[in-house]
Formats: sequence, C-alpha cells, structure tokens
Amino acid sequence: MLHNMNIAVGVTGGIAAYKTAELVRLLVKDGANVKVIMTKNAQQFITPVTLGTVSNNPVYTDTFQVTEEGEIAHISIGQWADILVIVPATANIIGKISSGIADDLLTSTITAAKKPVLICPAMNTNMYTNPFVDANLRKLSSFGFLIMEPDIGGLACKTEGPGRLPPVEDIVEEIRGILTKKDLRGFRILVTAGPTQEPLDPVRYITNHSSGKMGYALAVMAKRRGAEVTLVSGPTTLDIPRGINLIQVQSALQMRDAVMAHLSQVDVVIKSAAVSDYRPASYSSSKIKKEKGPLSVSLERNPDIISEIGKKKGNIVLVGFAMETDDLVDNAKKKMELKSMDLIVANDLNTPGSGFKSDTNIVTLIARSGAVEELPKMGKNEVADKILDRVYELLQKKSL
Ligand code: C5P
Repeated sequence: MLHNMNIAVGVTGGIAAYKTAELVRLLVKDGANVKVIMTKNAQQFITPVTLGTVSNNPVYTDTFQVTEEGEIAHISIGQWADILVIVPATANIIGKISSGIADDLLTSTITAAKKPVLICPAMNTNMYTNPFVDANLRKLSSFGFLIMEPDIGGLACKTEGPGRLPPVEDIVEEIRGILTKKDLRGFRILVTAGPTQEPLDPVRYITNHSSGKMGYALAVMAKRRGAEVTLVSGPTTLDIPRGINLIQVQSALQMRDAVMAHLSQVDVVIKSAAVSDYRPASYSSSKIKKEKGPLSVSLERNPDIISEIGKKKGNIVLVGFAMETDDLVDNAKKKMELKSMDLIVANDLNTPGSGFKSDTNIVTLIARSGAVEELPKMGKNEVADKILDRVYELLQKKSL
C-alpha cells in the first residue's frame, strides 16, 4: 500500500528512538522510500549507521547538509516527502515546532514542509501531562499537525502511565490511513468476522477453521478509507485493530444479539463470519464425563443472522459471503436472493490460496444487479479493498 510513497522519518532524542529501526524497516518492506533525519540528541540513542542501513538512504543530521542530488536538505526533503513522521517526538521538539523555532535540520524541514506531519509523542508521563506540552500539542493540532496519542503502559523510566510509543505496526497503519483517500468517511460499517464457538460444556465447543483474516482485513481497510467501523468478532488469534469498535463474542446467539443491537446505527453490514449453523441443544454446566460406548450429542439450528438482517435491512447495504465447492456462481446467486443481500462474495474452496486461514483469497463478486466479477488470487487486504469499492458504488446509488 505504501508502494512508492516518500516518507521522511524525523527521529528525536527519546529512548523510544531505538524502535525507529524497526519502523523504518516495516515502511521499506511495505514499498515506501524512506529518508531519515536525526537530531543531535537522537544519535545518543541510535546511530545514523543503523537507520541508514535499514532505510537504504543516507541519514540527514546537519542543517547545512546537501542531499546526494546537491540540493539543500531541509527544503528538498520537505518537498520530496508525501508525509513527515516525527517519532519519537520529545517534549522539546513539540515545544520548538509549536513556537515556530527552526534551529536544526529537522525543525527547519518541518517548518518548510507543506505535506501532512504526523507527530508521535513518547516521553515520561509527567512530561507528557505537563500543561506546556499539552497546550503545545493542542496548538499543533489546531494548525493541522496530526498527533498519534501515546499508549498507556510501562515506561523506560520505570513508571506506568501515558507516554509509551504505540507499537510500530500501529504507526505504519496510521501512516497508511493518512495517505489513503477517505471515500468512506461519514459511513458506518459493521463487519462480522471469525468463527463462532458453540459450547457443549465448560471445556468443549463446536467450531470451524475460520481464522477471521478476511473480516479483519475488511475492518482495517474500511477504517483506512474513513469509515466508522464496528467489528463483531468470534474468537480469533489476530491482533486487535486500533481505532475500531471491537465487540468480542463467542457463540452465534451472542453474535446475533450484538449485530441486531447495532443495526439501526449502521449503513453497511458485511457478514464475513463463518457462523456455526448448529449448536448443542443443551449445555451441561459440569464437564461431561466419559462413559463406556459412544456419546451422541443433539444439535439444534442457530439463527441465520444474515437472513434476519435481510428482513429488516431498510436502506442498509448488505454483503454476505458464500463458500462453495460446487456450482459456485449459481449457488451464490441463489443465496443472495434468498437472504436479501446486495452483494455476495463467492469463495471457491476447491482452489489452493483461497478460503480459511490463507493470507490470500480467490473470490467472485456477484451483485444483485447480476454483474459478476471474477477476481484473481489476491492478498486479503486487496480483496477487502475490491469489496469496499463495490460497497462504495452501492452507497452512492442508494443516496441518489
Ligand atoms: O448459508 P451460508 O452459511 O453458506 O451463508 C453464508 C453467509 O451467511 C455468510 O455471509 C455468513 O456470515 C452468513 N450466515 C449468517 N448466519 C448463519 C450462517 C451464515 O449470518 N447462521
């Protein structure tokens, strides 16, 4: 997603500076061109050699440095960059830029830049909550600087509180979000993801192989495109995406309740969860003991959540999934009609690189209007983007 994006990373003198090597590595891995500017104090925490090696570019440290192309660094880097990221941003740099001071390469570059500047404060809690720092951050925010709030947690100074640098993966995601067109801003999207677990007794349950990856990709990409996202998720091992309203559930009944409770507050529902069709007819509150001979368990049907939504959906754009092994398109079309969906994502389970657990997917998008789009094998994020393109078109049509 960051392919060919130009990112200037400004590193200042806080202990979290050591994490910038990993940040730069992730940005480069995602396809970005990265140039690093370091303040004098930053070089006490991490060396220019490290950041030069991971960025594949010279590191800039001196106001009077000229670039490889013979240009004045503080002007040319500001013009080159699609975004400037200050990480970690100390109380000192925040104070300087909020006062318009430009006395070294980094502050001069920020002052000369016309592109978005993302500030990632990281410092001791007392410093972060100091009224000067707070007022400076507010001022910067009112001037259009973007601030990524620090996490609350253990700090290098052996205290606990706000001031911890967010995980570098989250900073990368924040950058992706800033550089993404916000075509879904103003829309509220509910996504369901993962398997459900249908308990039999306190230690056993019925479930399936769903990893939740497709639903989480949809939630992350919708958030990136500006939507307000609620993710109703069955149990998964995936990282919790930042900035998304996550509702964790276990069973299909709990998923139904969570989805129905939110229906009046959303514009789009995307049901990518692999909901268990059956649950044990009775739940034993104590562990079922093994006996000699077989055990039979009676199962009863779970509610079909998407059909319930279909009956009450009003103006909601409803997207469902179909996993099929035979007659993919025909079966998916029938399912879409039956369950009043606007769009169905048909997953061919016969092809490797598709379906559960895989990082890629091979799907066919079928619209209620009849349009069929067969997509090649893609990463689940790319598939999510394609689905959201169709959702965007449907939203536009509904608003006409
Ligand atoms: O009928 P089938 O289970 O193949 O339909 C799949 C679609 O229906 C998916 O979008 C899935 O999330 C949804 N579904 C549901 N409630 C169920 C079973 C499936 O919402 N009990």
